[in-house]
Amino acid sequence: MSYLPVKQLLQTEPGQTVTVKGWVRTKRESKNAVFVAINDGSTIHTIQAVAEAGFLPDETLRLITTGACVAITGELVPSQGAGQAVEVQIADVHIYGPADPEKYPLQPKRHSLEFLREIAHLRPRTNTFSAILRIRHALAFAVHKYYNDNGFFYLNTPIITASDAEGAGEMFRVSTLDPLNPPKTEDGKVDYSQDFFGRETNLTVSGQLEGELGALALGKIYTFGPTFRAENSNTTRHLAEFWMIEPEMAFFELEDNMNLAEDFVKTVIRYALDNCADDLAFLENRLKEEEKTKKKEEQSEMTLTEKLRFVVDNDFERLTYTEAVEILRNSKPAKKGQFQYEVSWGIDLQSEHERYLVEKHFKKPVILTNYPRAIKSFYMKQDDESAAAPGPTVRAMDVLFPGIGEIIGGSQREDNLEKLTTRMAEVGIADEAIWWYLDTRRFGSAPHSGFGLGFERLVLFVSGMSNIRDVIPFPRAPKSAEF
Ligand code: 4AD
Ligand code: MG
Repeated sequence: MSYLPVKQLLQTEPGQTVTVKGWVRTKRESKNAVFVAINDGSTIHTIQAVAEAGFLPDETLRLITTGACVAITGELVPSQGAGQAVEVQIADVHIYGPADPEKYPLQPKRHSLEFLREIAHLRPRTNTFSAILRIRHALAFAVHKYYNDNGFFYLNTPIITASDAEGAGEMFRVSTLDPLNPPKTEDGKVDYSQDFFGRETNLTVSGQLEGELGALALGKIYTFGPTFRAENSNTTRHLAEFWMIEPEMAFFELEDNMNLAEDFVKTVIRYALDNCADDLAFLENRLKEEEKTKKKEEQSEMTLTEKLRFVVDNDFERLTYTEAVEILRNSKPAKKGQFQYEVSWGIDLQSEHERYLVEKHFKKPVILTNYPRAIKSFYMKQDDESAAAPGPTVRAMDVLFPGIGEIIGGSQREDNLEKLTTRMAEVGIADEAIWWYLDTRRFGSAPHSGFGLGFERLVLFVSGMSNIRDVIPFPRAPKSAEF
């Protein structure tokens, strides 16, 4: 019989000859037999291969070590051991690639996540990281499925752009000029007309502006691609290169946007619960062990899957920024001076405030809306003046999650050309810089909305991990880009 992945082999009826190909996790020798556990990445589980003592040539036995890549052929038989239905009775072993046990860094024991970050090129071979990567894949698939099922078109927006979608100036420059000796104009400035694109360009911070062009032509679109931010945030929630999903919808107002965001995250989390049960069970166990090392009051009351189920089964709490500020100001930590940053209307809420609202006050995901205009991006739709807020606000929405803080940021977009250009002038964005964006407001403007979900923050939540660098295969962060 031809080669099958371990995941399928484990469900195959015994009684046939099979070949298993993969990497040795462990080899155990007893007086009568040798047991080899093999994993090929298709599942968290290993398949056991067994040979009677003395059956394998000494040289072969010596090369079967943790990390070696092998092909083992033999009859699939019912297993005597606990925890597995079948095992392979070894008839033949082929060693593709040995792994010197003196030098191979991964040993069959629990390594620290810090150590594994240093060997990011090998960590996908561990149970923890292979589980995370399979969950990451399932979530990515669920994202595409969700939007396809709901009539959205996948729009590919540019990676190299000449604009700053967030207006925050946190861009990585892209240039073919000699960085040490760039050509200069007569007045001594760098002459970007000689650069590859004939102008200054950068890696995209968000596909939103181009996404809006798509929505105002195709109705409902989404992007799903890498985005780049040169913000110097050395935290467990920030990456310099992360993947973002940005749906953008014509004729959606703020309320429709919130409904979509809530339904979307719940649906993809449910997909993971339904399709990644083995990997989630493994990570849940890992987390339980970790919890035991914490102080009692810091231990989580819910297991990982209970937490995920809770999110998909309950309505998110929705309130305005202004209401949230009132709650925070009257909260115990505010009164006791326990927040690092004091709360007053107008501040950009810090993660300590977001997490208080979610984890202590409401104990569930929260959607905050109608933020002060001054702390949000230029493109957000301005609210009509209202007595409910002490200053001008915009139709923004942030979705806040337990343990994460902000997982989604979005808004209804300003569709009025005059209001938009006035706001741009206030924050110093020239009309010419995004003339093409303004054209959508000149020609057939329409109410529309959208949001961005940070994909790694979603994977972080679903996997229960605590550092964002552990949920992307090759993390890029300040002073860290090994490959
Ligand atoms: O709130 P942000 O900056 O919003 C935008 O970029 C909008 N253009 C989105 C839109 O409306 N289409 O980022 C959106 C989300 C955040 O909520 C967060 O989950 C994630 O992107 N994010 C990051 N994730 C990892 N590392 C970083 N440095 C991130 N910055 C933002
Ligand atoms: Mg944001």
